[in-house]
Amino acid sequence: MVSPTNFLLHAFLWLALAATAFSLSPNFYHNVCPQALPAIKRVVEAAVHKERRMGASLLRLHFHDCFVNGCDGSLLLDSTSSFETEKNARGNLNSVRGFEVVDQIKAEVDRVCGRPVVSCADILAVAARDSVVALGGPTWKVRLGRRDSTTASRTLADNVLPSASMDLPALINNFKNQGLNKRDLVALSGGHTIGLSQCLIFRNRIYNATVIDPAFAKERRATCPRTGGNTNLAPFDPTPSRFDTAYFKNLVKEKGLLTSDQALFSGGSTDKLVETYSKNPNAFWVDFGKSMIRMGNIKPLTGKQGQIRVNCRKVN
Ligand code: HEM
Ligand SMILES: *[C@@H]1O[C@H](CO)[C@@H](O)[C@H](O)[C@H]1NC(C)=O
Repeated sequence: MVSPTNFLLHAFLWLALAATAFSLSPNFYHNVCPQALPAIKRVVEAAVHKERRMGASLLRLHFHDCFVNGCDGSLLLDSTSSFETEKNARGNLNSVRGFEVVDQIKAEVDRVCGRPVVSCADILAVAARDSVVALGGPTWKVRLGRRDSTTASRTLADNVLPSASMDLPALINNFKNQGLNKRDLVALSGGHTIGLSQCLIFRNRIYNATVIDPAFAKERRATCPRTGGNTNLAPFDPTPSRFDTAYFKNLVKEKGLLTSDQALFSGGSTDKLVETYSKNPNAFWVDFGKSMIRMGNIKPLTGKQGQIRVNCRKVN
């Protein structure tokens, strides 16, 4: 007997099931392992306490995971006979860091949950949020339920990760290819309010750029010579361990460290938004959280796709 109420009830139940199976939800681990999120937070806080920069490094891992075929933990896989690790890609090699902390988080989460139920991709998303909070930034509800890829692609990573030499149209296009808009580009670039960069990456700008504060260029040249010192580090803004608006204040003063940073404030269509964020921490806070959720939604594997890795570095 198929009554109209029965039909509606079944349609509703099916929809509810489909929603949990195919999209991300903040409550994904509430029943299966309520201890998971507090465990991630504990390990992130300890790591950031030990070395403040680790918060920046963990935030960047989630970004570089999501931009390469979606947020699927592919960045964490080491090379095998069937694929080369994304860790070797331009933009990752000798640059991304924090993999040992991810291993620690994974071990702790699996211990408190009693079995591997939390994906490596979700660990990256939560660790990114907890890092931002640990360094004084905004919080947001991380959507969960991503599953882990069984493959990785160095070539794709080479092709899709944005580079420090990009101008504004190239950056806008790069983000557009991920379904992200100009607002996401500017807000998420604000991630550079924490962390450091290497001389090799910003040398060309501090010696050759025209749109650059001369005193700032001089200061950076002091620790980044024309030749040598490639791995010498400099902060993106004067407060690299604090998630504040100094990054945007710097851009307005033509003190952006990378070409791609200053591109956001160099007479183009994003100048106004940079200025807004430079004066209004709350506007930056709110938009950063929204855009992190949008970035975290890029092409996740869900339901029965992929797997929950036992070791984030290896396919099961
Ligand atoms: C808009 C395009 C972007 C470009 C071209 C870019 C490029 C870079 C480069 C070249 C570095 C320094 C690498 C090194 O010197 O080894 C870096 C560091 C960093 N990036 Fe980005 N990035 C971009 C967007 C983002 C986004 C969206 C986030 C996060 C929301 C982010 C977070 C970070 C962080 C936190 C660091 C410092 C990491 C550390 O100190 O370990 N970046 N980025
Ligand atoms: C400055 O630009 C020139 C021309 O593009 C290039 O050959 C040179 O290597 C650059 N200098 C630095 C220090 O990057």
